[in-house]
Amino acid sequence: MTGTAPQQTDVEGVDGGVGLTAFLVAAARAIETYRDDSLAQDTYAEHFVRAAPACADWPVRIQRVPEGDGNPLWGRFARYFGLRTRVLDDFLLRSVRTGPRQVVLLGAGLDTRAFRLDWPSGCEVFEVDRAGVLEFKHQVLTDLAATPKVKRVTVPADLRADWVGALTNVGFDPAAPSVWLAEGLLFYLPGPAETYLVDMVDRLTTEGSALAFEAKLEKDLMLYRDSPIYTATREQTGIDLLHLFDKGPRPDSAGDLTAKGWSTSMSTPFDFTRRHGRGPLPEPNDALEGNRWVFAYKSRP
Ligand SMILES: C[S@@+](CC[C@H](N)C(=O)[O-])C[C@H]1O[C@@H](n2cnc3c(N)ncnc32)[C@H](O)[C@@H]1O
Repeated sequence: MTGTAPQQTDVEGVDGGVGLTAFLVAAARAIETYRDDSLAQDTYAEHFVRAAPACADWPVRIQRVPEGDGNPLWGRFARYFGLRTRVLDDFLLRSVRTGPRQVVLLGAGLDTRAFRLDWPSGCEVFEVDRAGVLEFKHQVLTDLAATPKVKRVTVPADLRADWVGALTNVGFDPAAPSVWLAEGLLFYLPGPAETYLVDMVDRLTTEGSALAFEAKLEKDLMLYRDSPIYTATREQTGIDLLHLFDKGPRPDSAGDLTAKGWSTSMSTPFDFTRRHGRGPLPEPNDALEGNRWVFAYKSRP
C-alpha cells in the first residue's frame, strides 16, 4: 500500500471516482444559471448537488463563495463549464435544425438538455453513462416531477467496453443522421477506448451527422498539477482530476475524423470567451491552456 489514498476510478455510483466529476459540472451550471450575465440556464443542476451527501455543501450560487469570482474553482473553472454548456447547447440546436433527429450524449452525466432545450419535433435524445449515474439522475428528476421536452432514452453502458449494442438495442438507428456529443468525457477514457468511440461514431453515422467533443492537447498533464484550478478543485471538493484523467497516449481523434472524410474545426475555449464577451481568458500555469473543442461534420453539403 502507498501512503496516498487511492481514488477508485472504477466505482459504479455517481458519488465516487469519475462519477463525482458530474457533480462538479452540475454545481458549476447551477452557479452559471443564477449569474446576472448567465451564458446558460439549468435550473435542475442545483438539485443534483443538493441531493448527494458527497457534495451537498458545495456552493450553487457565486454569492455563497467568499472570494466570489476570485475563487479559481467556483469562479473561473465554473465559468468555463458555463461557457462550454452554452457553446455545446448552440452546437446541438444548430445541428438538429439541419435535419438529424437523433442526439447521442456520450458520458451524459447530469446533463439535462433533454429537459431544458427547445428541440424541434421528432427529436430523440440518447443519454449514455454508467448505470449508477443514470439511476441517481433518474431519482432526482423523478422527485422534481421533471418532464423531458423530447423523447429521452437512457443507455447504461461503460464506454470502455463495447457499448454499441446497448445503443442500437434501445432504438438508435444508424441509417438515419445523428448528432453526437462527448463533453468532458474523452480524457477519462483510455486511448484505445477513445479510438474505438470515434470509429463507432463514424460507423453509426450517415451524411449530415455531426459530432462535438472536448480534448486536451497537453503531452504532460502533470505539468499543471499546481495550477490554481486543479489545486482549488482538490482542496475544495477532494476531487483530484489529474488522478482521474487517463495518463496513456492520446489518439488524434480530430485528425482521425478528417482522414475518414469528416470536416473538422478546433477552437480554444478562449475563442468563445471573446465571442460571448465573458468566460475564462488565458492566464499563467493554466490548466485550460490545452483544452480544445472540436466540431466535426460528416460530408456536410
Ligand atoms: C465530467 S462528467 C461530464 C458529464 C456531462 N457530459 C456534462 O458535461 O455535464 C464525465 C462523465 O463521464 C462519465 N464517464 C466517465 N467514464 C465513463 C465510462 N467509462 N463509461 C461511461 N461513462 C463514463 C462519468 O460517469 C461522468 O458522468
